[in-house]
Amino acid sequence: MSQPVVFTRTETSRPASAEHRSKVLADPGFGNYFTDHMVTARWSTEQGWHDARLEPYHPVELDPATTVLHYGQAIFEGLKAYHQPDGSIASFRPWANATRFQDSARRLAMPELPEETFLDSLRELVSVDNQWVPTEGESSLYLRPFMISTERTLGVNRPAGSYLYMLIASPAGSYFASGVKPVTVWLSREYARASPGGTGAAKFAGNYAASFVAQTQAAEQGCDQVVWLDAVERRAVEEMGGMNLFFVLGSGAEARLVTPELTGSLLPGITRSSLLRMGERLGLEVEERRITTEEWEQKARSGEITEVFACGTAAVITPVGKVKHSDGEFTIGDGAPGELTMKLREQLTGIQYGKLPDPEGWMTKL
Ligand code: PLP
Ligand code: COI
Repeated sequence: MSQPVVFTRTETSRPASAEHRSKVLADPGFGNYFTDHMVTARWSTEQGWHDARLEPYHPVELDPATTVLHYGQAIFEGLKAYHQPDGSIASFRPWANATRFQDSARRLAMPELPEETFLDSLRELVSVDNQWVPTEGESSLYLRPFMISTERTLGVNRPAGSYLYMLIASPAGSYFASGVKPVTVWLSREYARASPGGTGAAKFAGNYAASFVAQTQAAEQGCDQVVWLDAVERRAVEEMGGMNLFFVLGSGAEARLVTPELTGSLLPGITRSSLLRMGERLGLEVEERRITTEEWEQKARSGEITEVFACGTAAVITPVGKVKHSDGEFTIGDGAPGELTMKLREQLTGIQYGKLPDPEGWMTKL
């Protein structure tokens, strides 16, 4: 079971034409197009990890009684491959994604994919689909590793005995259609995303399934995204649908960066932890602590909270301009992107695109 997993390659018969690819890469959007190949690997109680393959991208056939379709054991990761100035392709902290994938697997009683195998799968896919890594502007190749349970049974008294790991890739432009324009967010008091002891800290598919009803409500209120609050009191700010949140208190040399502490019900974002480190390097005071909606509104109105932004792999750093809730709304600063928000954004993307020094050694060649 601990033997290295070796990927068998099956060549694609019909890769996309160069014309189709360049048309897609000119305006990829997010999550709409996929590259020519994918990776698969299987796990069973008897064999452990086996049958790892690099194959042409193709649909997956599942028996209607496959456990994932009924009981939802499904986890995923999200990371990006960036074109570097020297022509190489690198990813941002992929080992952290490999570790979080294992953490998610443990929470969902699924097998842990060895971190080396996770990294190898990225390298395999990127090596054959490297033409799909965009070279222009702030675009990248979004990598989506995921795992589902595949046992054919309706039995629910134990976790499934077999699993399928897959990796697909999708060229990505900006996550929000509006680019770096500030977003308006909706404080969700009716619905909660995750509760203490639940699955909120895992990148578990069900967390996202449970979020759509609130996301629809947010859209009906003219908002771009939902802000999740703690499930018990609906007061402490947790995170957004696919992003963590940061608050800037004060400004200039006095600025402090505050982000909700990891309570077990929000996702420990890799961008989040990187920004905490970058904040420290900039000499800022950084705090991980409880922050309530009352504090947010009161300090935004008094001007003490000067900037708020969301961060994540897909969304990078996105300023929050306005907040709405069932009793009203308020603006952050003058509603425009904040100075520190944009500075951190420039530094982060500078590291990711190989344009700025990488003092922590976060970039990993694929
Ligand atoms: N929170 C949730 C719910 C997410 O899905 C994501 C995206 O992965 C994040 C936060 C940000 O995490 P990361 O910075 O690791 O992409
Ligand atoms: C990511 O940033 O990788 C995410 O997973 C967010 C969203 C696309 C689910």
